[in-house]
Amino acid sequence: MAKPQAPRGTFDVLGDAALARAELERVAKGVLERAGYTRIETPVFEATELFARGVGESTDVVQKEMYTLDEGSEGSLTLRPEGTAPVCRAYLEHGMHKLPQPVKLWYLSSFFRRERPQAGRFRQFWQVGAEAIGSDDPAVDAESILLLFELLESLGVTGTRLRIGSLGTPATRAAYREELQAHLRAHASSLSAEVVSRIELNPLRAFDSDHPGTRAVMESAPRLLDRLSDDDRQHFDEVLALLDLGGVTYEIDPTLVRGLDYYTRTVFEFTSAALGAQSGVGGGGRYDGLMEEIGGPATPGMGWAAGVERMLLAAVPPPVAPVPLDLYVAYAAPEHRTAAFKLAADARRAGHTARMELAGRSLKGQLKQADRSGARYVAILGDEGAALKDLESGGQQTVDPETVMHHIRVGFNL
Ligand code: HAM
Repeated sequence: MAKPQAPRGTFDVLGDAALARAELERVAKGVLERAGYTRIETPVFEATELFARGVGESTDVVQKEMYTLDEGSEGSLTLRPEGTAPVCRAYLEHGMHKLPQPVKLWYLSSFFRRERPQAGRFRQFWQVGAEAIGSDDPAVDAESILLLFELLESLGVTGTRLRIGSLGTPATRAAYREELQAHLRAHASSLSAEVVSRIELNPLRAFDSDHPGTRAVMESAPRLLDRLSDDDRQHFDEVLALLDLGGVTYEIDPTLVRGLDYYTRTVFEFTSAALGAQSGVGGGGRYDGLMEEIGGPATPGMGWAAGVERMLLAAVPPPVAPVPLDLYVAYAAPEHRTAAFKLAADARRAGHTARMELAGRSLKGQLKQADRSGARYVAILGDEGAALKDLESGGQQTVDPETVMHHIRVGFNL
C-alpha cells in the first residue's frame, strides 16, 4: 500500500500548531465570554434540508460543496458547511426563546465544504463563530462586529480591513433584484457567461465577478444601499454610529455580497492583506429571516464566523511555550521501574507535570532525555533511594522516594 496521506484539503494539527490553536481558543473564549456569550457545540452533521433551506438553494455551498450522506430511511444528512443554521435549529429545538433575549452563543468547530483546496482554503476547516439571537437592536450588530474586531486585534491579525453594507429587508431586496436583473439583461452581451447564467438565480453575485466586461457593467448598476427603506437606512446608520463610538474603522461597501443567502440588513467582512487570494478572515451579518426559513417563528439574529486557519496565517505568531516539565523520573536498574512508575503517577496526581522513562534507555540515555525534555528536576530511583537532581542549579541530594514531591514542593537546599 502507498504511504497513507490525509485526504486532499485536510490536514493534521500537531506540535506548535496545536499550541497556537489552544491559545486562539483561550483568547476567543475570553473576548466572547466577557460579552456574555456561552459555548455551544452542535452535531457534525444535520438534516440536508436544514442547509438547503437555511443557507439557500442558489448558493455555491449548497449547489456544489456539501458532503451529503444518503442514510436511507433516516433521510439525507450533510456534514455541516457552516454553523449559523445549526445554531438556529438548536435555538428552536431547546425553546431558547424563553430565555432572556438576545441569546448569545459561540462555537469553535470544524466545517466541511467540497471546495478546490488552495492556500487558506480547505475542505475541513475550523471557525470561531458568534451568534446573538432574538433582538434586532442595531447595538447587537455593532457589538458583534466590535467583538470580532477585538478578537482579531488580540490575536495580532495584521493588515485587516472591514467592509460593511446593508442588504435591507427581503421586500426591498426583491424590488432591487428586479431592477438589477433588468440592468443585467440590458447589458447581457458584455457579461461573462457565468454571470448571464445566474441572472435569474442570483444576480447579486455579478458584483463579485473579476470579468472585465462584467465589472464595467456593474459600475453603472443600481446600488441596493440607495434603495433601502427608511427603517433599514436608520438601522444601518445606527450600526455605523455605534461602530464609530467603538473606535472601529470601516469602509462602506455598497456591493458587498456574501456567499450565503440568509442575510438581511447588516453584512460585513474582515479581510487581511497578510493573506493571499483567500483574503476573507471573517464575516457575517444579520439573518432576520433564517429562523422562519427553517420552520420557526420570526426571530431576528446576528452573527459572524472567522476562519481559524486564516486567522493563524494572518497573525503574528505569539511565542508558544510548551508545557514545562517539573519532574523526570529515571531509574538505575529494571527492578526500580515500578517505583519509578508510582512516583511519576503520584507526582501527576499531586498536580505536577511528570514523565517517567518509557523506552528502556540506559541511565545515561535517560539523563540525556531528561535534559532534552527541559525537566526542572530528575529523580533517579536506585538502591539508595531517589537521587533528586535540580537541573537548574545542578545540586543533588538522595532522599526517600516517598518524600520526593515534598522536597520539590518546599524547594530543597542542595
Ligand atoms: P463564511 O463567510 O462562509 O460565513 O465563512 C466565514 C469564514 O470562514 C471565512 O471568512 C473564512 O475565514 C472561513 N472559511 C470559509 N470557508 C473556508 C474554507 N474552505 N477553508 C478555510 N476557511 C474557510 C459563514 O460561514 C457564516 N456562517 C458566518 C455567519 C455567522 N454569519 C452569521 N453568523
